[in-house]
Amino acid sequence: MKVGDTHYRSIWYDTAKDAVQIIDQRWLPHDFRITALETLDDFATAIRDMWVRGAPLIGATAAYGIAREMRRDRSDAHLQTACDTLNATRPTAINLGWALGRCQTALKDVAEADRAKVALQLAQDICDEDVEMNRQIGLNGLQIIRDIAARKDGAPVNILTHCNAGWIATVDWGTATSPMYHAANANLPIHVWIDETRPRNQGALTAWELGAHGISHAYITDNAGGHLMQHGHVDLVITGTDRTTRAGDVCNKIGTYLKALAAHDNNVPFYVALPSPTIDWTVSDGLADIPIEARPASEVTHIQGTARNGQISEVRVTPEGTRGENPAFDVTPARLITGLVTERGITSATPEGLTALFPDLSQNGAL
Ligand code: MRU
Repeated sequence: MKVGDTHYRSIWYDTAKDAVQIIDQRWLPHDFRITALETLDDFATAIRDMWVRGAPLIGATAAYGIAREMRRDRSDAHLQTACDTLNATRPTAINLGWALGRCQTALKDVAEADRAKVALQLAQDICDEDVEMNRQIGLNGLQIIRDIAARKDGAPVNILTHCNAGWIATVDWGTATSPMYHAANANLPIHVWIDETRPRNQGALTAWELGAHGISHAYITDNAGGHLMQHGHVDLVITGTDRTTRAGDVCNKIGTYLKALAAHDNNVPFYVALPSPTIDWTVSDGLADIPIEARPASEVTHIQGTARNGQISEVRVTPEGTRGENPAFDVTPARLITGLVTERGITSATPEGLTALFPDLSQNGAL
């Protein structure tokens, strides 16, 4: 997507500089900075400390991390070390393990002399595939917005979203935002309610994205969605996901479950947009079997923003010494989900629905 007049992806390999570059999300939405990742430690830190974030982008970053490491040491032992190091950074988004597994499979039979080249091509392929999957998700999700718009006689379709499942959470387009971008490009009137998404306020990233694309939106507290639904101000909820089980349970940013409950109680359709690498075919029961990341309590007790003097600053919001807890994700049971919007089409959040759409991939997991 565009930042100013320039089209960016969230991560790319700059051939002229011979460097992997990221849009550094530590500073967004306050400042737009690009950072080069060099060492294994850089890549691991970037994922763990959320310089990059969002399930598909985490996977793409890991693939580039392997590509860089294969220039330094192409041995089997180092491939394993690099995969283990990157895999230990964040536990919930399955795209991380998916991308690393793909690297290991692709490289295991490649001669050491060729590994760096093959690994770089694979990272670029993973990125290109992500962009195309997300573009397709947008076209499929657009039909949902069109159907609602047809009933609204020109009034905007009100969409609520949680967290940032936007283009900077993927390589481009985003998952939940892709239908919004397609709707805007098709001149369909939409308005987006953006949950702030405490504690890290990823909603501010979504506001930055949608603002840059000229999409009407309002930033709301995490507690406002139920109220807006009760009063008929939400036509549709679309979120992303970090891991979806073969049965259709959706693990996503903390607070997603509460939005799904409110949507269910108010007959508001609740859709989840996801590329197929976000499906964990080995897991059926999301509540029992998906690891939920526990992030630092300081993310809850402290908050970052731009101060009146223009400086990016952090302040404490709690009394000194208050203990915080910070579970970063929750699981929305499949029964609360209206449909899953994938690159191959929209399906029900059921084992049958997912298997029918992905007969080839569904063989990968335990039944
Ligand atoms: O902790 P984050 O910011 O990485 O969490 C991101 C989300 O929960 C997104 O909704 C999810 O990764 C989907 S991104 C297309």
